[in-house]
Amino acid sequence: MNIKENSNKKDVILTGDRPTGNLHLGHYVGSVSNRLKLQEKGNYKKFYIMIADTQALTDNADRVDKVKNSIIQVAIDYLSAGINPDKVTIFIQSLVPELFEMTSYFMNFVPVSRLQRNPTIKDEIKQRGFVKSIPIGFLNYPVSQATDILAFESSIVPVGDDQLPMIEQTREIVSSFNNLYKPESPVFTMPKALLPEEEICRRLPGLDAKVKMSKSAGNAIYLCDDEKTVKEKIMSAYTDPNHIRVSDPGNVDGNIVFAYLDAFCQEEHFKRFLPEYKNLDELKQHYRKGGLGDVKVKLFLNNIIQELLEPIREKRSYLLSHINDIYEMLFDNSKKASSEARKVLEKMKDAMGINYKNLLIKD
Ligand code: TRP
Repeated sequence: MNIKENSNKKDVILTGDRPTGNLHLGHYVGSVSNRLKLQEKGNYKKFYIMIADTQALTDNADRVDKVKNSIIQVAIDYLSAGINPDKVTIFIQSLVPELFEMTSYFMNFVPVSRLQRNPTIKDEIKQRGFVKSIPIGFLNYPVSQATDILAFESSIVPVGDDQLPMIEQTREIVSSFNNLYKPESPVFTMPKALLPEEEICRRLPGLDAKVKMSKSAGNAIYLCDDEKTVKEKIMSAYTDPNHIRVSDPGNVDGNIVFAYLDAFCQEEHFKRFLPEYKNLDELKQHYRKGGLGDVKVKLFLNNIIQELLEPIREKRSYLLSHINDIYEMLFDNSKKASSEARKVLEKMKDAMGINYKNLLIKD
């Protein structure tokens, strides 16, 4: 599904992030900007954003403080990027205990071998050095993520493409559960992933061009980076190593500066920052031909990114003096989320026939 397909008033939207550090531009183009568009359209019944602290602990059990301190950082990132808490319920995963009970029942539908085949899990096992010994909690996080989605009867899940295997897993669980329990009136609906329209935004590469932008790879520009840091990072971004002199012909493929322009640049940016060119195609053509230096293109990109981040930075400095209010909002919302999830859990237990209250003989 892409953002042009319309959501409707019956849709429940849910997405989330692990609190393991601040959000970066990969998160912004991969998911946050779609969230902002959905929020502006307002065409939904409910919209949840979950700060997935329990999921973060599945590979950070020994770094509790990092996860704990990142909760408020991620919340500030959301709010400063423009997520409006009056329109979107932002909550903390571990404060919704219903999720863990539901996960237990869903675990019965998923073979271990299925989790081991999940391509995102496979990559992460290698990256985390879990090859010899995988924590059960970590291997199981796709099931727990399926629960995050199903506990709120979500129909739309805005994510980047590394999360597609999780949505696939969720859909398989929905089929298995509905087939087994009460197939005549299925409890769960099939969720759909909502990907960014532009391919490049689904998996934004890092500044080093080696892997996708991520905190662990140290190749990210953060929403909270100050002006000087952003500029330094952009000026050091990987371009075409064979484009040595300005006059050399250059390659735009695999060139990070052009990848970011694909993700962030709009035609109006040329009018404001680089009026000698009409659009990105013209700029690319000149680069390919030779005669266009990296510095000029990098400074153009820098202008675009600074313009995006400036209002975010301003809001952040206001939010930093309202930390307590933000925590209160998160705690309040988590209670609301918990009572919503409770209703779905009860429905689930009814369908499974394990609501033992029904065993009481009434006279
Ligand atoms: N796995 C997601 C990430 O790493 C975070 C997440 C947890 C999530 N639960 C979710 C995303 C439910 C979408 C829906 O960023």
